[in-house]
Amino acid sequence: MRMYEIIQKKRDGGTLSEAEIRWFLEGYVAGEIPDYQAAALCMAIYFRGMSLEETAALTFAVRDSGETLDLSDIKGLRVDKHSTGGVGDKTSLVVAPIVASLGVKVAKMSGRGLGHTGGTVDKLEAIPGFKTDLPIDEFKKIVNEVGIAIVGQNATLAPADKLLYALRDVTATVDSLPLIVSSIMGKKLAADDDCIVLDVKTGSGSFMKTLEKSRELAEWMVEIGKRAGKRMRALITDMDRPLGFNIGNSLEVVEAIETLQGKGPEDLTELCVALSANILELAEKGSYAECERMVKEAIESGTALDTLVKMVEAQGGNGDWIRHPEKFPTAKYSHIVLSRKSGYITHVDTESYGVASLLLGAGRNTKEDVIDMAAGIRLCAKTGDFVAEGEPIAILYSEKESGIEGAERRLLEATQIETTAPKKEPLILGIVE
Ligand code: URA
Repeated sequence: MRMYEIIQKKRDGGTLSEAEIRWFLEGYVAGEIPDYQAAALCMAIYFRGMSLEETAALTFAVRDSGETLDLSDIKGLRVDKHSTGGVGDKTSLVVAPIVASLGVKVAKMSGRGLGHTGGTVDKLEAIPGFKTDLPIDEFKKIVNEVGIAIVGQNATLAPADKLLYALRDVTATVDSLPLIVSSIMGKKLAADDDCIVLDVKTGSGSFMKTLEKSRELAEWMVEIGKRAGKRMRALITDMDRPLGFNIGNSLEVVEAIETLQGKGPEDLTELCVALSANILELAEKGSYAECERMVKEAIESGTALDTLVKMVEAQGGNGDWIRHPEKFPTAKYSHIVLSRKSGYITHVDTESYGVASLLLGAGRNTKEDVIDMAAGIRLCAKTGDFVAEGEPIAILYSEKESGIEGAERRLLEATQIETTAPKKEPLILGIVE
């Protein structure tokens, strides 16, 4: 086989065979196919797309590109929740301890921030001492004892995704349906879970901007997961506005703790309850209504928060910070963004909010960048709210003064204010079984 011909075939709209897809991925992981040819193929896939069969072949090739985890010595059903990426999306920090406190096992491998979206591993590293890189035996031991552990992606798992993701991130080929499906599901299938609930985001802050595309993404991921023998479900949820009020690593950890304390924002709480109840129903813990009731009780009784404290301590972190989130330091500089006019916030370009947070230091512009944990945005008003001229829209936090002006400009440009209130849109837009 020749890489040239594979690129040419996809460029001209052809269908790649499973053998061609595997040959490409194996060669790329082995370092025999250079980045420029892999990038050309990604771009051809971006424009020409892939059939479900090709996408499944690519997913299974990603899964098989490294080791697959064997978690069979963890007792009980193993569940996972995965989001396709959003702004202010701290649901894993809430959902994982809730479901673990209700008797299912969460052996979670999470990612770092990508582009304008945040990552669970970065957020957890805002907790002093917390280790996201554990030897596999210790990881399994914590899951068995506490019911939950969250670590970073193991380097030996789905290495093809690690390489391809870094390449896509710098070649404008992230937002391609077959590439997202194979990236997420390739990794998920390499980790040994029984039930997977996907949170497929849709709207201006997600990689798939339309409901139609997000639904297709959800359907393909569910179908491919099922072909691999997993119990699958996907929720399609709104990412046309940030989730909750806080964007940025320690700000999001604090908001996740508040949600586990039962005093979180309405949208975040609603989504976390729905995701948790769906996971538990898929794990056959009861009917949806029963699972929802158990979830609410786990929050009210404090058992979900206790589970988070135990996990943090087992992974070397300071549990006292989880009990007393006021201990998380605030950034050196803060700046209040004031509305330039009176009216209702009718729409926000959520991706730009993510970029503004990045400019403040909450994310990386290059792989080498070090994250400023206290940096980010606290929203004072969200879509649907009325703001008077001169009233605060948001507070920006940063360790450097230099990023504040650009972030403020970005945020103001991204916030549409009009005289009529917008229609209230639901947060959960669909479920794919
Ligand atoms: N998250 C991933 O892991 N991969 C993608 O391609 C998009 C979001």
